[in-house]
Amino acid sequence: MLPLKRRKLPSPSTGSTAGTNDGPEVPCRFPEIVLFFLERKMGSSRRTFLSELGKKNGFKVESQLSSSVTHVLCENNSADEVRAWLNTQLTVPTSLHLLHVHWFTESLRAGRPVEILDRHTLQGQMEEEEKEEETCSFTVPNYACQRRTQLHHHNPSLSDALTLLAENAELNEDDGRAVAFRRAAAVLKALPAEVTSVSQLKGLPCLGEHSLRVIKDVLKDGSCSEVETTKHSQRFNALKVLTGIFGVGVKTADRWIRDGIFNLQQLRESQTTLNRAQQAGLDHYEDLNQPVTRADADSITEIVQEAVSSLFPGAQVTLTGGFRRGKMTGHDVDFLLTHPEEGREEGLMDKVVSWLDSQGLLLYQKTSRNSYLESRDGPGRPSSNMDRFERCFAIFKLSRGQTSPPAGHQWRAVRVDLVVTPISQFAFALLGWTGSKLFERELRRWAGHEKAMSLSSHALFDKTQKRYLRASSEEEIFTHLGLSFIPPSQRNA
Ligand code: UTP
Ligand code: MN
Repeated sequence: MLPLKRRKLPSPSTGSTAGTNDGPEVPCRFPEIVLFFLERKMGSSRRTFLSELGKKNGFKVESQLSSSVTHVLCENNSADEVRAWLNTQLTVPTSLHLLHVHWFTESLRAGRPVEILDRHTLQGQMEEEEKEEETCSFTVPNYACQRRTQLHHHNPSLSDALTLLAENAELNEDDGRAVAFRRAAAVLKALPAEVTSVSQLKGLPCLGEHSLRVIKDVLKDGSCSEVETTKHSQRFNALKVLTGIFGVGVKTADRWIRDGIFNLQQLRESQTTLNRAQQAGLDHYEDLNQPVTRADADSITEIVQEAVSSLFPGAQVTLTGGFRRGKMTGHDVDFLLTHPEEGREEGLMDKVVSWLDSQGLLLYQKTSRNSYLESRDGPGRPSSNMDRFERCFAIFKLSRGQTSPPAGHQWRAVRVDLVVTPISQFAFALLGWTGSKLFERELRRWAGHEKAMSLSSHALFDKTQKRYLRASSEEEIFTHLGLSFIPPSQRNA
């Protein structure tokens, strides 16, 4: 019996024969059982039919819910729904079986009330449905590049927790651990629904013991102590602030921390010598740590577009990185520059950068030469994600429209990456620069482990055939790799 936490109300007098109104009276064979069929979601005609059927077979059936009712029979209702309904009733028995109609039909077949099993109860039914869901609900392919990962997904609190631990591992140069957390976060981002219990995750790839422990904590308590401790630790925060300076990597930040420098003020007051990039990074720290908006990115696209088309007619500008994946903000703006005629892209970077500089649009820039030569460098090395395009790391001085507050602040600094690629490598560069970083890493892992190929932002080399595979579009590269095409907006792994 299911005890109901509800006060007992005075009950109206109840009829107690199993007889029907129209047919001959059938003696009540099971006096200890009183049935009530719930009309809700069953419908009145089916309810009448089942009630009559019960009476004809010697069951006592009540048409009103009364204190004498022992068994409530339902169809298409959850236990919660029935309890909610009971709470609206004037008279409710103190204890009741909430059963599915199956129990009744089985009893008719047996010619007597059958023993109540879990599968007959609404609660038990629900648990079985849940169990079924848990074993078959989530399946995702192993590699992030085989999955579609939208920007917005169902498990942000879980992926945020794992991402913070990944970030911390990166800041401590523990790459193995960082990738493990990134992969786990990416699996959660790809799930078609919110995770409510770790048991739903059985059989999913990339979820190690550590990640599962974090997930379990967040599901249970809404947070995980390891994540909270990390988030508030002095080292994590110092590393974040210091590496947040453009030009400062984890090695430098770690050295400064060992020298007792934990924040910008201490850095400014110290005698530490900064290189040109770091000085620019420190000078524009506030701006560069403000998210770049889509509108900022569009303004910069216009400027670069204008510079390129006036200086190099025919040359093309393509916005890549997070904005190409549909992100509304980013930490920088990434562009690929190319020319449809192979070789005509030469000299493009110098001209564009000098023009931008002459217009006072650059607060900082450092250009590096193209150092990639297929014949000399051989197949792109998947272990290194440094590519060797002609590249410009810049800090743009972006004028604000009149609409942008705060007043008095007429411009902001924005990190911009310009990369020039020959058209023959453009598709590889586009795929490589669109990201996300994990998606790229997974593409290279897939190529190497599953296809004996080596993928870089320059080329795809087939180690079995010992030759480069050409491609003029991203679609062709996915085809070479034996993968379904994943559009940029679904590469947010
Ligand atoms: P970003 O670091 O700009 O990432 O690199 P993002 O996805 O645009 O994120 P936000 O919004 O700016 O924070 C963009 C892509 O370029 C590749 C990265 O792998 C990433 O996929 N990349 C970056 C390179 O291939 N080489 C580099 O030297 C830097
Ligand atoms: Mn970017």
